[in-house]
Amino acid sequence: MEIFKTSSDMRAWSDAMHRRGETISFVPTMGYLHEGHLSLMEQGINLCSSLVVSIFVNPTQFGANEDLDGYPTNIKRDIQLIESKGARVLFLPDRKEMYPENYQTYINLEHLPKHLCGLSRPVHFRGVATIVAKLFNIIKPDAAIFGAKDFQQLQVIRQLNRDLNFNINIIGAPIVREHDGLAMSSRNSYLKPEERESALSLSKSCIKAKEMVQSGEKDANAIKGEIKSFIESFPHTKIDYISICKPETLNEVAEIKGEVLFALAVQVGKARLIDNILI
Ligand code: PAJ
Repeated sequence: MEIFKTSSDMRAWSDAMHRRGETISFVPTMGYLHEGHLSLMEQGINLCSSLVVSIFVNPTQFGANEDLDGYPTNIKRDIQLIESKGARVLFLPDRKEMYPENYQTYINLEHLPKHLCGLSRPVHFRGVATIVAKLFNIIKPDAAIFGAKDFQQLQVIRQLNRDLNFNINIIGAPIVREHDGLAMSSRNSYLKPEERESALSLSKSCIKAKEMVQSGEKDANAIKGEIKSFIESFPHTKIDYISICKPETLNEVAEIKGEVLFALAVQVGKARLIDNILI
């Protein structure tokens, strides 16, 4: 596996691949890899003739009071894992490479960031859209794979891809969970043993919401109220949001008709956790 640290080396490799008629699939990550990331690579390897993975802890998607400085890393282990999945290239730029001095250009979406995580993380999706567009321009993939764990991010990327004519095949991959249901996340490493049970309140809420809908409940507020009390019954939890919305627009719904997204974010100790389910 090759490791490129500069955009010019990465781009030269991609251009050579395309000249040879090869196709490129791409999995962007911030590292500290787990089975969720690896499942995206497994999809990617089957989609195109070569897989590129990136690791970059993108500073512009973290708010001032967020965990940029403490974000977990283990590059050595990550490199082994990516290689074991059969990737041809790891793109591993540093901050200066992606945001040199006098960097000025950012991508803002009009509507999607005004919901869910965007409300408490106002600069987050601007940072995500910007870095993903930059990575798309450097790597020029034919397909890119994103996890449904970050459902809003997946929708932001799909919109960005349409709006800016990237013409990349954007694939959404299912949420990978621990044996007890907890959605895998690099941030799970922040959880203290006594917080672990509380972290399960998110996946349990997803199941509970689905069951309520399946047993005929159509009032979104009734479901949100019940889930709120359920989560508050666990110690160490602070709810950021509980949402029932349209998957395409992320607009809240009052009455459940057709497909809806149930999504929530809860602070559990130091970890801000998210989860969701399509119902
Ligand atoms: P990161 O949190 O490292 O996640 C990288 C990719 O892995 C994302 O597409 C995310 O949705 C997916 N992923 C994370 N946990 C998952 C799980 N349990 N099951 C399935 N997929 C999962 O998301 C980012 O990085 C960044 O915002 C990035 C897109 C790299 C831009 O900086």
